[in-house]
Amino acid sequence: MSAESKSFYLTTPIYYVNDAPHIGHAYTTVAGDVLTRWHRQRGESVWFLTGTDEHGQKVLNTAKANGAEPQQWCDKLVEGAWKPVWQSLNIANDDFIRTTEPRHMERVQRFLSGLKDQGHIYAGKYEGPYCIGCEEFKLPGDLLAGELCPTHSTPCEILSEENWFFRLSAFVPALLDHYKKDPSACEPTSARNEVISFLEGEVQDLSISRSTFDWGIPVPWDTKQVIYVWFDALLNYATAVGLGDDVGTPGAKKFAQTWPADVHLVGKDILRFHAVIWPAMLMAAGLPLPKKVFAHGWLLVGGEKMSKSKLTGIAPADITDHFGVDAFRYYFLRAIPFGSDGSFSWEDMSARYTSELANDFGNLASRLIAMIEKYCDGVIPALAHDDALSAALNSAAETADAAICALDFQGGINAIIDFCKRVNGYVTEQAPWVLAKDPANKVELDKVLYNTADSIRALAVLLHPVMPATTQILWESLGAQETLGDIGLQKIGEVSRWGQLPPGSKVTKGAVLFPRLEEKAE
Ligand code: ME8
Ligand code: MG
Repeated sequence: MSAESKSFYLTTPIYYVNDAPHIGHAYTTVAGDVLTRWHRQRGESVWFLTGTDEHGQKVLNTAKANGAEPQQWCDKLVEGAWKPVWQSLNIANDDFIRTTEPRHMERVQRFLSGLKDQGHIYAGKYEGPYCIGCEEFKLPGDLLAGELCPTHSTPCEILSEENWFFRLSAFVPALLDHYKKDPSACEPTSARNEVISFLEGEVQDLSISRSTFDWGIPVPWDTKQVIYVWFDALLNYATAVGLGDDVGTPGAKKFAQTWPADVHLVGKDILRFHAVIWPAMLMAAGLPLPKKVFAHGWLLVGGEKMSKSKLTGIAPADITDHFGVDAFRYYFLRAIPFGSDGSFSWEDMSARYTSELANDFGNLASRLIAMIEKYCDGVIPALAHDDALSAALNSAAETADAAICALDFQGGINAIIDFCKRVNGYVTEQAPWVLAKDPANKVELDKVLYNTADSIRALAVLLHPVMPATTQILWESLGAQETLGDIGLQKIGEVSRWGQLPPGSKVTKGAVLFPRLEEKAE
């Protein structure tokens, strides 16, 4: 693929830095990481962006409550919590944007001035409720008991401010048309239906500035006001790749290569911002719309959305310390259909860890390596072929590719794990340990071991986007690092070509991929 071609561009939300990440944030970011690693292994050029949302009242209030200046607070959380957590979870993002960076702030100001010049911005007065937790202007009809935010169950502030407004309502017909013509622009179907019914209601113009505090990007022509935090934040997806830069500059080139985004991955809590306000802003500026907004479900605690503000957040380390990083990455995508809500259960995770990861996958790999050491002096035997296994691999790889590209992570992982079970069945049926008892069976024994080894080669490649560290250990123990090169460079489209593992290469016993949990418990 040439350097000039369009990248597969995926974004996560930029998270508020009012606290450290919990497993809800990790859920989105891991999903984005798995999807982008998958696309890289399809041979595509990929750009994966995440970052932090640092302006607004919520972050300002948290900083104040902690006796810090907001910038100092953000720096501390970004460097001390957000970036290290993503690193510990093996997130391979290409860029990390912070909304307090000049590269973002300057482009946001230029964008807003452009909209004003085009007549999309006007002065007005906002009177009504505002939820600081959501950083959202609410409609009185949205509130519980007339004053409580339905998400946070806390009272809204009542604002009365002279603000700048964006003519959001003018874009309603074009937005409806967009989602009706291209259903894949907002998924899953439940999310699209919600957006369409919202658009079919009474959509108001949007206040896009605030005048009662100064932690934000100044409105360029009225510096007593700061830009509304969501208007600032949504633009990150475009500012990070060079929005509005002059023709011929590196920014303009990057923009041409990445925009429009292929997928904005978000939780369903922030669907409207992404599927209504954001595309309207882009339409106003005459820019192409993102190809897809995908709103996944919530991780629940006690039936409610896990959240920082309700102090129900579980830190990723609470889980990875016990189960390891790869099992964490695997579990949530495997256990919860992407798009539905789900609860984290220690028991369910333990059960899947033991049956799917330790037994089906880890044991298969360690038994194969042990048998090649014992029966073949640690050397991969002569090339062999098994029609049924090869056909099963072919269909698993095709199913997984289609499912994962459609963000059906559960379906994709299931197809791969089913193939793993199939290989286990093959080993049980062929019983190489029985064949090994009679030297006359040597050719047959070698065949079985080769077929198993090449199947495991394919499993390592297919599971690499989900479990990069464990599959790397397996790759090295198969000797494939030297013979086939980096596992991340192995192509999904070629994974089912049988017989890639070179006979004659040396296997080595590596670390146990998924140690028994009992050994790790305190
Ligand atoms: O909304 N289950 O930031 P935020 C699943 N700054 N996902 C969850 C979750 C849960 N319980 N809790 C959080 C903001 N998430 C804005 C975004 S984007 C231009 C600005 C994930 O820190 C999920 O992706 O509140 C959700 O949409 C996001 O974190 C909200 O993070
Ligand atoms: Mg939130």
